[in-house]
Amino acid sequence: MINYESIKPLLFKLQPESAHHLAESVLRMPNVCQLPFNPFLNSHFITDDVLKQNLFGREFLNPIGLGAGFDKNATMIRGMQILGFGFTEIGTVTPKPQAGNPKPRMFRHIEEETLQNAMGFNNEGAYKVVKRLKQRFPFTTPIGVNIGKNKLTSEQDAISDYTHLIKSLDGLGDYFVINISSPNTPGLRDLQNEEFITELFKEAKALTKMPILLKIAPDMTPEDAIALTTMAVEKGADGIIATNTTIDYSLVKEPKDIGGLSGAVLKEKSFQLFDAIAEKLYGKTILISVGGIDSAEEAYRRIKAGASLVQIYSGLVFHGPDMIMNINKELIELIKADGYSNITEAIGADRK
Ligand SMILES: Cc1cc2nc3c(=O)[nH]c(=O)nc-3n(C[C@H](O)[C@H](O)[C@H](O)COP(=O)(O)O)c2cc1C
Repeated sequence: MINYESIKPLLFKLQPESAHHLAESVLRMPNVCQLPFNPFLNSHFITDDVLKQNLFGREFLNPIGLGAGFDKNATMIRGMQILGFGFTEIGTVTPKPQAGNPKPRMFRHIEEETLQNAMGFNNEGAYKVVKRLKQRFPFTTPIGVNIGKNKLTSEQDAISDYTHLIKSLDGLGDYFVINISSPNTPGLRDLQNEEFITELFKEAKALTKMPILLKIAPDMTPEDAIALTTMAVEKGADGIIATNTTIDYSLVKEPKDIGGLSGAVLKEKSFQLFDAIAEKLYGKTILISVGGIDSAEEAYRRIKAGASLVQIYSGLVFHGPDMIMNINKELIELIKADGYSNITEAIGADRK
């Protein structure tokens, strides 16, 4: 057990990005030597027959994944298993390395258990991430590879950024995620349109056998989100991840004027949009829910609404790594209490 509540005040004295770097420096260590971390792995990585399911041709030992943006450069894959995540989404990776937006670009709204970030796809670029993934391959838990265009790539040339990334990273993960939903790359969300998605999936599907999912923003009407995701699935998307961060700044008391909000204030907005999409697409494609999940009850609500998997980012910052273990343990009890013997029976239970 980690007493995160005693570390948190010290961690929260640091700038959010410095705290992230500190966490990363610890979570990179198992790449060099895992042995000292094994007791933590044994206590925190929870699996059970109730939680196991096969998706994308891989076994997921538990359904709680790390949301994109925490491990942008695939430096913490082992560390994330040790914390108990059943899968990790690395990235967003862009073709060329880029520095991201000027600092400060990550903020905490502590009382609201909310983060606001305007990182802007800071990452080491495809070349380095490919090298790193090859060193770590094969992975014991599934890996999602989240990809995005470089800031300086025009919207007209965006497709070639995505196809370049798919060619470079093909075979180095279990699924791709097309990220056109970050609010921090100018013009990126404009790519959430039929013409771009049609062309993108046509070209992308010809390049890889890996499933390709689309991650969407929460700042759409349910009607627009349903239309967009239904069309994406028709054009070849193998799944939908909902949602990214929101630009609805009315959700916090003292918003900064840049970036997107994640964490507790996103919970209801993200759930509502996910639920609307699931009503249409549950059973037709794989759905992953992310946004404000911070308890087993919330994870289970998403699962019963149709999510095969869920992801967490901000909850980890506010509640610490024991939360992943606790959610998985409690999820086993919630699933059993409903009389199910496996998570697959609970997925979409509220839709039936
Ligand atoms: C600091 C930060 C960086 C993020 N970077 C990315 C990213 O690079 N790509 C992406 O698809 N989502 C990114 N996200 C969004 C998360 O993956 C997730 O969709 C969102 O934070 C909602 O989940 P949460 O409420 O559990 O944090 C980022 C979120 C945060 C807080």
